[in-house]
Formats: sequence, structure tokens, C-alpha cells
Amino acid sequence: MPGRSAGTAAWDARLSVPGSPVCAPDWLALREGADASARSPELVERLRAHLTAGARPGAPAVIRDLGCGTGSMGRWLAGRLPGPQRWILHDRDPGLLARAVAGLPGAAADGSPVTARTCEGDLTSLRAADLAGTSLVTASAVLDLLTAEEVDGLAAACVRAGCAALLTLTVIGCVEIAPADPLDVAFAAAFDSHQRRNTGGRRLLGPDAGAAAVDAFARRGVAVHSRPSPWSLGAERAELAQEWLRGWIGAACAQQPDLERHAGGYLRRRLDASSAGELRVVVGHVDVLALPGGAS
Ligand SMILES: C[S@@+](CC[C@H](N)C(=O)[O-])C[C@H]1O[C@@H](n2cnc3c(N)ncnc32)[C@H](O)[C@@H]1O
Repeated sequence: MPGRSAGTAAWDARLSVPGSPVCAPDWLALREGADASARSPELVERLRAHLTAGARPGAPAVIRDLGCGTGSMGRWLAGRLPGPQRWILHDRDPGLLARAVAGLPGAAADGSPVTARTCEGDLTSLRAADLAGTSLVTASAVLDLLTAEEVDGLAAACVRAGCAALLTLTVIGCVEIAPADPLDVAFAAAFDSHQRRNTGGRRLLGPDAGAAAVDAFARRGVAVHSRPSPWSLGAERAELAQEWLRGWIGAACAQQPDLERHAGGYLRRRLDASSAGELRVVVGHVDVLALPGGAS
């Protein structure tokens, strides 16, 4: 791509393989509290009702967490759902899987047992036959790393297998930073382009992934609900805000190298405001719930 530097290629490579910055355990740990606060409780209520209505006495709900990382979703969701649960934790990174399976809670909302096993592999290769018997497919902060074909394939597999899907924390390309800075718009646009980048022959959806998922389920006649799930990062989450800023600015520069000359000063101003307790960042996300069987 014209204008893209060797640094850009290196950044792309780091974002495309297991162990990339967005999947690093330290980063996932830093964001876990903000993720838990952001996910939509309303969609979980709908999901609870759906799973309860379809539950067979004594049989566990089979829940697959795709791109589970260190297991943040299971730690958040298992204790919010009633009844026995059997979690299958999917990721391509064995190190993350080991952490995830060790950290899953042992009990559901009503004290029923929760068990877990891991499944190492590429989530984009999952088909309806692989999901047979699954009650729920879930994923958190994963959808925006996929292509249009992969999101469509995942929706198709869920619909054919008749399982619900709860897909949380997909970025939507909407960032608000206060106090405002004249460079905010340029960095935001470059970051969004980076999220939609073509890497290794794959055109990532980035901030278009949530809408693509809604469309993919709705086209197949499935009831689909979406709710905003923004991060709200103020003085109480300054460490996360600062780390997010570094990654956000770095990705923007990787996409648009002419921003590099502004990046140091821009980051300094933002970090100074954060250290002074004056920075507030809202990072837009969307949660999507698809329920089979005509449920609304
Ligand atoms: C941003 S992290 C989110 C992790 C976790 N869901 C969370 O919310 O903390 C994305 C995760 O998806 C996994 N991942 C990305 N693409 C994948 C693929 N094609 N197949 C399997 N795992 C994938 C990464 O290894 C990583 O653990």
C-alpha cells in the first residue's frame, strides 16, 4: 500500500498472529474490569430467559466462547446464567487457553456446576456440524478481527445449528475524548482505517463488524438485538485509558505514517491530561444477541 512504512508492516504482523498486542494477557487483564462494566445486562436478561425456556432438566447448557483469550467472558457470564453449564473455550493460542480454563468459575447463578474444556484452533473454520448440540456461542472483543465472509459464516453456522449467539464488545468506530484536541479527528480516522486494513489477504471488518453480524442473522430470519456497550474511561480507569491511547495512536501511525510527526506531542498532551485527572475517553462498542426459534 502506498505510503505505508516498514514499521507499518511490522505492526500489522504483530496484530495478526497469536500473542499480538490486542491479545496479550496483560492487556486483556487491564481491560477486563471495563469490559465487565460495559457489556449489556439487558441482553443477558433476554439470554437467560431464552436458555431457561429451552433447558432440559439436568442437561447442561453447552456454551462455546470463541476467541476466549484468558477467559474474561466466562468469568463474567457463567455466574449470570442459571443451571448447569459446559463451557468449551476456543482459541488458537494454547497459552491463553490454559489461563482461561483455569480461571472459569465453578458455579452458575443458582449454584449449579460449571465445567470447562478447551478447543485449540481457528474459530473461522467452525461450521454448523461443529456446533451441533451447542446452546450458546459467545465471543467478546473478537468480531472486529474477522472479515465479512467470516462473520457471515459464523452467523450461518449458528443459525443452522440452532444456537443462540451473544457477541459482545465489537468496536463501532466512535471515540469521544475530552478535552478535545484538533488532532483527534485525524487519529480517529486513521485508526478506523487500520481496523479495516487488508492483512495477509484478509480485509478486516473492524468497526463494521457489529452491523455485519446483525445483518447476517436478520437475513436468515433470526431475532437479533443490539445494545451499545461503551467503555467509559475517566480518572478511575486512567491506566487503561493511557494504555489504550498508546495502542490507538500507534495503530493510527502504522496506517498513516505522516501522523508520526504529531504523535509524540499528541500523546504527551493526552497523558498529561490523564495524569491530572482531566481526561475522559468513551470508546464505542456494540453487543449483539441473536436468538433462534423466533424468540423476540
Ligand atoms: C482481543 S482478544 C479477546 C479475548 C477475550 N475474548 C476477551 O474478551 O478478553 C481476541 C482473541 O481472539 C483470538 N483469536 C483471534 N482470531 C482468532 C481465530 N481466527 N481463531 C481462534 N482464535 C482467534 C485471539 O487469540 C485472542 O485470544
